[in-house]
Amino acid sequence: MATIALLSGSLRAESSNSAVVATLRKLIEEGAGGHEATVVPLRDFPPFDEDVEHAGLPAALEAARARVSGADALIVCSPAYNGYPSGVLKNALDWLSRPGGDSPLTGLPTAVLSASPGQAGGANVQPHVRQILANSGAAAVECDEVAVGNAISLRTPDGLIEDPAVLSRLAKLVDTVLAAVAAR
Ligand code: FNR
Repeated sequence: MATIALLSGSLRAESSNSAVVATLRKLIEEGAGGHEATVVPLRDFPPFDEDVEHAGLPAALEAARARVSGADALIVCSPAYNGYPSGVLKNALDWLSRPGGDSPLTGLPTAVLSASPGQAGGANVQPHVRQILANSGAAAVECDEVAVGNAISLRTPDGLIEDPAVLSRLAKLVDTVLAAVAAR
């Protein structure tokens, strides 16, 4: 049984990236194998500050970090802001990259996808997120690209994605990540 940490790069209450994360959680928890998903709360990462780091991490940040360090893999769903990840996502990944060389990200299998209201689903942000993760020592899981286009209109009032074509791509990504964890 594996535990997969999930991180959305948007704070917005009706975020389409968070809807993708909620859908991934459902797929993982309701799929075969009794796997678990843990959603990492983006809001619990304060602006990165080495003084805060040296003084001791706030409890909420420590708990968010523990969700990642206790997981077997991490899936990140990123919005594109002017072609780059949101500042708050970069900030969270900076926290998770600490301490360098021995952080929760070190060697952790990671997969990246994106969602946006545009047709391309913010696909152009993905290489940047993968580069940040690689620079932080994470391991990349080779997956087919998943970029959820028209994502705001696909979000249901329950905060999920139910479009069959997208669900099928998300399920394949989950299977690929679980297979990578099993192969370690
Ligand atoms: C955007 N958006 C956007 N979308 C996109 O596909 N490519 C882009 O480069 C950008 N750039 C961008 C910059 C800024 C500053 C904002 C605020 C927005 C639109 C963005 O994808 C949209 O707001 C999404 O809804 C954000 O994701 P959530 O909040 O739905 O998860």
